[in-house]
Amino acid sequence: MGNPTIAVVAAALCIALAAGWKALLRTSPIDPASIDLPHPPQRLGVFAHNNRLQNAHKLGSGLISNPEDLAVDSQGRLYTGSGDGWIKRISFVDNLDVLVENWTYVGGRPLGLAFGIHGELLVCEPSQGLLNVTEGHVEILAEEADGLKFKFADGVDASREGAVYFTDASYKYGFHDHLLDMLEYRPHGRLLKYDSSTKTTSVLLKDLYFPNGVALSAKQDFLVFCETTLYRCQKYWLEGPEKGTVESFIDNLPGLPDNIHYDGNGTFWIALATSRTLSWTIATKFPSVRHVLALIARLAPGAVIDAIVNEPSVLAVNEMGNPIALYADPNLSNQINSGLKMGDSLYYGSLTADYIGHVPLTEEI
Ligand SMILES: *[C@@H]1O[C@H](CO)[C@@H](O)[C@H](O)[C@H]1NC(C)=O
Ligand SMILES: *[C@@H]1O[C@H](CO)[C@@H](O)[C@H](O)[C@H]1NC(C)=O
Ligand SMILES: *[C@@H]1O[C@H](CO)[C@@H](O)[C@H](O)[C@H]1NC(C)=O
Ligand SMILES: *[C@@H]1O[C@H](CO)[C@@H](O)[C@H](O)[C@H]1NC(C)=O
Repeated sequence: MGNPTIAVVAAALCIALAAGWKALLRTSPIDPASIDLPHPPQRLGVFAHNNRLQNAHKLGSGLISNPEDLAVDSQGRLYTGSGDGWIKRISFVDNLDVLVENWTYVGGRPLGLAFGIHGELLVCEPSQGLLNVTEGHVEILAEEADGLKFKFADGVDASREGAVYFTDASYKYGFHDHLLDMLEYRPHGRLLKYDSSTKTTSVLLKDLYFPNGVALSAKQDFLVFCETTLYRCQKYWLEGPEKGTVESFIDNLPGLPDNIHYDGNGTFWIALATSRTLSWTIATKFPSVRHVLALIARLAPGAVIDAIVNEPSVLAVNEMGNPIALYADPNLSNQINSGLKMGDSLYYGSLTADYIGHVPLTEEI
């Protein structure tokens, strides 16, 4: 925890004490719930601190603003949603030399990406919803379900049968207020399914805490979705006797899970946007601190993010939900929002970087 972190937390506590509870309640933009979360796991074994992501090669440095999620097409080209509303395509020219193109403009702030069975790119853009994107063309597939409009379409994956599974992280707060949703700690999210044959969207699960990335298993008999603010990813059965039910996949993660990708060969890659920091742990324990952080977030969201982001990583987890490798960068002040394995490399996207990170995989996976 750096000095700015301590300063922000200390400032929050001081303001909380000085301002008084009632005055605070009147001005606070959120309605925080009490929440009881497990103690952070010990950083032992797979979770041990490491610097495997340090010295990552910065692909497309300066040419990509704030890449969030990543997807790869059948020709091995990477796609990412950029902060400027473009889906960028990154082609490998020679080894790590890349060509970055403005592929298709979707507007807003594209988040989750996945290729569909017709070669289309499915994109979650928080305020527009689920998009079907082909070169130069954007179609909105879904923007509401059960009469409730999405405010935060977030993570997506597509099945071999053409079904599209995606999340709406919150019906209450949009992308620019994501910190408020996180600080409020109330379940505003849903897991959804778009059926392309009937062009309808159904709600698989509701009352989720910031549901984020989604990834189907190898057999497509279950999917995994991450609930960021509960530090966990859940398993939702799509086939078999447990069809339609939820069970734990991996709980009490060492960080806040974001996008998740299945690599086609037994491993899920979960981006942990930040490790669990003391400042966030304190905030979760005290709704009053969250009121103050929400007030600061309204004025200077960057200050709150700086206070809570530390040591982002990408966690590899097998199909049983057991962690098998962690790639972390203790010195990176950016978040890591997606991790994707391609060949012998791990790539990462970050809402706060101007490049895509790349490291050769060094662990036996
Ligand atoms: C891509 O779009 C951005 C934002 O509109 C623009 O600044 C940039 O020059 C474009 N890049 C290329 C290669 O056309
Ligand atoms: C997306 O659009 C393409 C081209 O129109 C179409 O072939 C494909 O079926 C669409 N995908 C979905 C999931 O609707
Ligand atoms: C798939 O996983 C197996 C077992 O872990 C490994 O030996 C093999 O190299 C992997 N294949 C690819 C293409 O990564
Ligand atoms: C992180 O950065 C600090 C100062 O920039 C440096 O002293 C430290 O060795 C770095 N940590 C690692 C694990 O490289």
